Amino acid sequence: MSISEATMPAAAGFEVPRHVAIIMDGNGRWAAARGLPRGEGHRRGVEALRRTVRAAGELGVGILTIFSFSAENWSRPASEIKDLMGLLRRFIRNDLAELHRSGVCVRVIGERKGLDPDVLRLLEEAEQLTQANDRLTLVVAFNYGGRQEIARAARRAAAEVAAGRLKPEDIDEEKLATFLDAPDLPAPDLLIRTSGEQRLSNFLLWQVAYSELVFVPTFWPDFDRATLEEAIHQYCRRERRFGGLAANGAS
Ligand code: IPE
Ligand code: IPE
Ligand code: MG
Repeated sequence: MSISEATMPAAAGFEVPRHVAIIMDGNGRWAAARGLPRGEGHRRGVEALRRTVRAAGELGVGILTIFSFSAENWSRPASEIKDLMGLLRRFIRNDLAELHRSGVCVRVIGERKGLDPDVLRLLEEAEQLTQANDRLTLVVAFNYGGRQEIARAARRAAAEVAAGRLKPEDIDEEKLATFLDAPDLPAPDLLIRTSGEQRLSNFLLWQVAYSELVFVPTFWPDFDRATLEEAIHQYCRRERRFGGLAANGAS
């Protein structure tokens, strides 16, 4: 695949990646730097999310995947988990109508088993209400881990084998991918992580095999359209080769 196949022409005048994934990191450090409780960082993080969804839509990004709560985040103190769950509930309650009005289709990836029934209900309501929208797909990775997703895919494939509907020898890369949480979506072209950390923290391990990675020092609550555009500019300067040779044939 060439760069132009992976990107779409943008209203902004530069090529915009079709699928952008973001590890929204640094809320706690943003708050600590200001002598505020971590919860305040998370609250300001929700505002950054609103700005980013709007900017992504305006720039012509087709799919925005956000890491909102990892499978490993359960190891945080109960009070922080309560804050984060409360923010998710409030985000969906307050913002769902507006997301729907602006043509956003909400999808959720991650393990649903074991979630609070009311949180699960809200996530499902968001998916159902917005399923026909096609301006921007917002994929919310919630209770998500990449290894866990791959294990779920293997389990779903194994169940098909046990039911006699699938032969083990027919399970290849392409087939296994059909059992992932959102199998119809293309892999991210660009993965952004905020806060200066340079690791994946178990995000989209399968899907980012050939994504371009951009790490920005900005803490997530300060992220805005300009930061997003700068990350996209970095992406535009990269040459994606997918294991092949440079497009101009140079070594
Ligand atoms: C990201 O910010 C939000 C979640 C992981 C839920 P952090 O809470 O990880 O903030 P830092 O990394 O501790 O600064
Ligand atoms: C990744 O950030 C998870 C989310 C952004 C939701 P973490 O803050 O949990 O990652 P580590 O612990 O620094 O690797
Ligand atoms: Mg963090």
